[in-house]
Parts: sequence; structure tokens; C-alpha cells
Amino acid sequence: MKRGPVIAIDGPAGSGKSTLAKLLAKELGFAYIDTGAMYRAVALKAHEQKIDSDDENALKDLCSTINLYFEAKANANKIFIDGNDYSEKIRTPFVSRLSSKVSSQKAVRDAMVRLQRLLAAKGSVIMEGRDIGTVVFPDADVKFYIDASPEVRGRRRYAELKEKGENVSLDTIIAEEKVRDQRDSTREHAPLKKADDAVCIDTSNMELQDVLAKMLKIVKEKLTIGNTHC
Ligand code: DC
Repeated sequence: MKRGPVIAIDGPAGSGKSTLAKLLAKELGFAYIDTGAMYRAVALKAHEQKIDSDDENALKDLCSTINLYFEAKANANKIFIDGNDYSEKIRTPFVSRLSSKVSSQKAVRDAMVRLQRLLAAKGSVIMEGRDIGTVVFPDADVKFYIDASPEVRGRRRYAELKEKGENVSLDTIIAEEKVRDQRDSTREHAPLKKADDAVCIDTSNMELQDVLAKMLKIVKEKLTIGNTHC
């Protein structure tokens, strides 16, 4: 049986892809899967178990024993490992750094990609990450690559962290995001890159609602939603 549509959204940190993916999912009534949260949760769990981010064998064992899953709550998806809610505690600069390192390990990627494909098996999903259009779902029905300048992305992350009460400096955030993007886009396995057939949108000088409207238009054209050819 043919699955429902898969919409892949990739891009670097702070490009606005998470916000856009959530809004688009709500608008279309699709499920939303944040694959970055999966790598973040594994990274934090590994840290709690004192597993080094270079220890691929230990990370592989960890991935094969944990039960990682999402639960849809009223206004957000929550991520759990073995019954423990990781949703809030994975949103720190420390976990950002760690998840970028842990996600470069092939064993971790293999385990997460397998899970991501299972989670999206029925389709009608928006999956957001770094390698969705290139590796996880190269046959996705619609692919977006969301980008923005490093300064704009740094400022967005800074504002998010400030709002949560984190004591950070803008320069540090921009520098850290550059390091993370460099690692994510130059790693050996499934590096961040635009799929050849992805629609690229630079959000640096665009309002969120305008980007969303553009994405919706493209999705509707590609999926012929609302077209009654019967
Ligand atoms: O999207 P995010 O910032 O929450 O992702 C955290 C890290 O996880 C990111 O630095 C790279 C990694 N990641 C990945 O390698 N592949 C994905 N599909 C999603 C995230």
C-alpha cells in the first residue's frame, strides 16, 4: 500500500526550519518529527551513562538498548527515553555541542535513520533535520532546504536562549554555531547538504509568515492538495 506524503526539511541550526516545520505540520494536519531532538536525546543519555562521544561501540550498544519515542502532547511533541522525558533538558548549548559530535558516529546514525523510517512509515509526515532529503527519505514527495546567513542564525539562537534565561553572549553563540555547522556539513556520514531536488529558501530577510506561505504554496502544487481531478 502506498504511504502518505513525506515532506523533508533540512538546513543548518537557526535557519528557522523547526518553527516552519511545526507550523507547516499544523497547517496540513501532518505529523511532525524533529530528528535533531533524537540525536540530542541520545547524546544526553550517553553523557549520563559516561559514554564518550568518540566511543562508537558503546554508543552502538546504547542505541540498541534504549527505547526512544515521541509522545504527542497538547502543544508540543515530547521526546522520551525509557520513560524519562528529555524534551526540555536537551535544549542547552552543552547538548547542542555534544549532539553534533555524537551524531557524526555511523552507528548512531544507522540506528536513528532506521527509527526515523519506522516513525514515518505511514507517511503524512514532516520530518526535519540535516539528512532527511538526502539519506533518510531520498524519495520524499517534497524537499526543502532552509538557510539563513550565519549572523541571522546566530541572532535567532541567541534570542531563543536569552528568552529561556540562559546567560550567553551573541559572539559566543555565533562562534559555536559556526563550529557545529562546520562539523555537521563536513562529517563523513550523511553530512548536511542540500538535496539536488530540494527547494532552497534563504530566510535571512524574510518574515516567518511569508516563508510559511511560500512553503505551503509549493507543497500544495507538488502534492496537488485541493485538486479534484476525479
Ligand atoms: O536540529 P538540531 O540543532 O536540534 O540538531 C542537533 C544536532 O543533531 C546537529 O548539530 C546535528 C545532528 N543532526 C543530524 O546529524 N542529523 C539530523 N537529521 C538532525 C540533527
